[in-house]
Amino acid sequence: MKNNLLRITALAFAVGATFSIHAAQPTLAKHHSDMLGCDACHTKPIKVSDSETHENASCVSCHGGLEDLAEPGHANHFDPHASHLGTINCTSCHTGHAEPQYVCNDCHSFEHDDMPFANTGKERKPAFTGFDQDKIEQAIAKGPKESVDVVVIGAGSAGFNAAISAHEAGANVILLEKHMFSGGNSMLAAGGYNATGTPLMEKKGIKDSVDWFVEDALKGGRGANDVDLVRVMGEQSADGIAWLESLGADMGDLKRSGGARVDRTHRPSDGASVGPHIVETLRNAANKRNIETRVNSRAEKVLRDENGKISGVVVHGKHSGYYLIEAKAVVMATGGFGYNEKMFAEYRPQFAGMSSSNNVTATGDGLKLAEEVGAGMVDIEWVQAHPTIGKGSRILVSETVRGVGAIMVNVNGKRYVNELTTRDKASQATLKEPEQYSWLVMDEQLLKKSSMIRGYKDLGMMVEANTIEELAKQTGMKPEVLSKTVADYNRYRENGKDEEFGRDNMPVSITQAPYYAVAVNPGVHHTMGGISINTSAQVKDDNGKVIPGLFAAGEATGGVHGHNRLGGNAIADTVVFGRIAGDSAAAYVAD
Ligand code: FUM
Repeated sequence: MKNNLLRITALAFAVGATFSIHAAQPTLAKHHSDMLGCDACHTKPIKVSDSETHENASCVSCHGGLEDLAEPGHANHFDPHASHLGTINCTSCHTGHAEPQYVCNDCHSFEHDDMPFANTGKERKPAFTGFDQDKIEQAIAKGPKESVDVVVIGAGSAGFNAAISAHEAGANVILLEKHMFSGGNSMLAAGGYNATGTPLMEKKGIKDSVDWFVEDALKGGRGANDVDLVRVMGEQSADGIAWLESLGADMGDLKRSGGARVDRTHRPSDGASVGPHIVETLRNAANKRNIETRVNSRAEKVLRDENGKISGVVVHGKHSGYYLIEAKAVVMATGGFGYNEKMFAEYRPQFAGMSSSNNVTATGDGLKLAEEVGAGMVDIEWVQAHPTIGKGSRILVSETVRGVGAIMVNVNGKRYVNELTTRDKASQATLKEPEQYSWLVMDEQLLKKSSMIRGYKDLGMMVEANTIEELAKQTGMKPEVLSKTVADYNRYRENGKDEEFGRDNMPVSITQAPYYAVAVNPGVHHTMGGISINTSAQVKDDNGKVIPGLFAAGEATGGVHGHNRLGGNAIADTVVFGRIAGDSAAAYVAD
């Protein structure tokens, strides 16, 4: 129940704060404690935990939840409360005892000036660097603070799927997340989930097979994939969709991603981004099952006992310090290293200085932990650039935008590649263009179809015009070139044959004003290499021998995608192998 009196008082404070924002910055905590005492946030019994849900509940009791705070009807205006961040804790951004954080600027670069108690700086500290060996040793020397069956490290899609599956199989689980909110890279996934043999595909009359699914992944991965892993992903992909739906997800739309021979990319019915939707579904499912999820809690060491079996994890909690959890099984769902420029540039010097679509969590520190404990690594040098990251931002403009009908043109307005080729080829084609960036061009039909595309417009990323010539003028393209490109494309579509680039999926003509263009360039998107696993998600050492009690899933692993991942296969990977890892870990501890 909301306390309206408190709410009004607090809102009055917030309004006052916006006027005094450039004065010396009081913290949110000071404002509240001056007015109402510490109890206003730290309701009794006073407890500061790394789950932060306790304090969050206090904020919500006065201010309302994100839905209450989101201002309706914002056209071309980004409201962080209504954004894709989902149901994160208020304290993720509105930190009480320190300056509130512009978490949004991890991806965007907004010039906010109205967040109470914050400054307008865009600077952020480097994320998650280094481990403090002395403190780790002290925590080990102190002995375990608690004991659990399975610790899952990393609360993205793979981690949530592993934690929920292990819990369903009877294991006692703790899920750790180093960031201030869960979701990981999965939270930023835009496109969808590739599956084969689903009821939706059958309903739409789409013929596909596990063999085709595997062949497409192998072609995209240049034959370097671990075929057994890919086959398991294909075989269990439809079951993964059914599982997500059973947890409450809407996977009712189907689109094409690059390198796929049929429409098999499943996504929410209204065309919304898949990642936030799946993460919210999984987060709710974990909460409903009372699975303990600790945010701000970074795993700093995984331990093996004298018999080589996994025995625990040293955690660094923002509030709770260094401590040891005893555990028989650990699942590494720690993601890749696409945000760690030093690391990706070491493996792919050509990508040095490139922007990244990744969450700040994708720093590869989980790979270091796994290596330390003896895990083998596969294909670690293979890093993928996605061809369409919003220019000047870190926002991914999904491959499915091309899948639903956008074309990609160079700075003059000319197409130069099959828009739905694999993303390694599309990125290389753009990097060969003199300006190394391109424009995605589309019409009003696409905006009507997809809330995700309307979101790009709301974020101010799109140039809009009533004619193709006007669009060219506004974007600096050559009007006569862009007009010819669009006319040619519409003719190819009409005739069912792309005479220039062999694109076989041309769902709509570009004919309905207004027309739109968004500037994009290649950016690091996925790291294919990582921890070596078998089809039961058990981690193998350099000699192919299983490490007892260690499991891994998702982008932290290598082998599934070979040298280049297909769009839509990451979410499939996280769901299928996340579930397998959770099941295997629970079976191992029960054994
Ligand atoms: O472009 C995209 O929607 C990306 C999808 C993916 O990486 O799987």
